[in-house]
Amino acid sequence: MKILKTPDSMYAACAQRHHDGRRIGLVPTMGALHEGHLSLIRAARAQSDAVAVSIFVNPLQFGPNEDLAKYPRTLERDCQLLEAEKVDLLFAPSNQDMYPAGATTFVTVEGLSERLCGRSRPGHFRGVTTVVAKLFHIVEPDLAFFGQKDAAQVAIICRMVRDLNFPVRIVICPIVREKDGLAMSSRNAYLDPQQRKQALALYRSLMRVQTLADTGERSTAKLVEAGKDVIAEEPGVRLDYFEVVNPETLDPVSDISHGALVAVAAFVGSTRLIDNVVLHGASESREPSVG
Ligand code: PAJ
Repeated sequence: MKILKTPDSMYAACAQRHHDGRRIGLVPTMGALHEGHLSLIRAARAQSDAVAVSIFVNPLQFGPNEDLAKYPRTLERDCQLLEAEKVDLLFAPSNQDMYPAGATTFVTVEGLSERLCGRSRPGHFRGVTTVVAKLFHIVEPDLAFFGQKDAAQVAIICRMVRDLNFPVRIVICPIVREKDGLAMSSRNAYLDPQQRKQALALYRSLMRVQTLADTGERSTAKLVEAGKDVIAEEPGVRLDYFEVVNPETLDPVSDISHGALVAVAAFVGSTRLIDNVVLHGASESREPSVG
């Protein structure tokens, strides 16, 4: 695996592979890799000729009171995992290289960026779309892989790619969970054993909604109420939002007959976790989507 530290050196390494006729699959990450990330890398391996992974804890997507300073950084271990997955290129730039002094250009997907996590994390999605746009220019990937775990991020990146004509195909990979259902996340490392148990309330709330939907409940108001009740039963967990929305526009829906995204965010202690489930409409397939 080649490790590239600057945008110029990464651009050159990717250009060489394009010149050789290889299709590049990009997996953007912030490191502290777990099985969720590895599932994206395996999908990239299966669908591309060269796999590029980026590890960059992007300061632009963290708010002033968020966990940028304490976000887990485990580069040495991450490199071993990436070597084992036969990743070709690792891009691990510094903050200064990604945002040279005086950088004042941003990419914003208006509207969608204020929904779901965007409401409680102002500026977060602007940080995500700006860094992902930069990565797309540096790597020029044929395919880019994102996890359904961050459902709003997926919707926003798909919209950016469409609106700005990025010549890349976005591949969405299913959520990887721990055995008991907790969605894998680098932030799970912050949880103590008691909080780790409390965190399961998020998954339980989604399963409750899924069961109600499977048994015929169509009203969003009823589903949201049921989901919120499950969160409220767990005293250590403070709800941020529980919403049922259109998975592409992130607009609230009142009825789930045509499918919907059920998304939850909650604080367990000071750790903010998110999870979601897609309810499929009557005639929709259950295959993971590929856009
Ligand atoms: P990060 O949280 O490191 O996640 C990198 C990718 O892994 C994202 O596409 C995310 O959705 C996916 N992922 C994380 N946990 C997952 C799980 N349990 N199952 C499936 N996929 C999972 O998301 C980011 O970084 C950043 O916002 C980034 C896109 C890199 C831009 O900075």
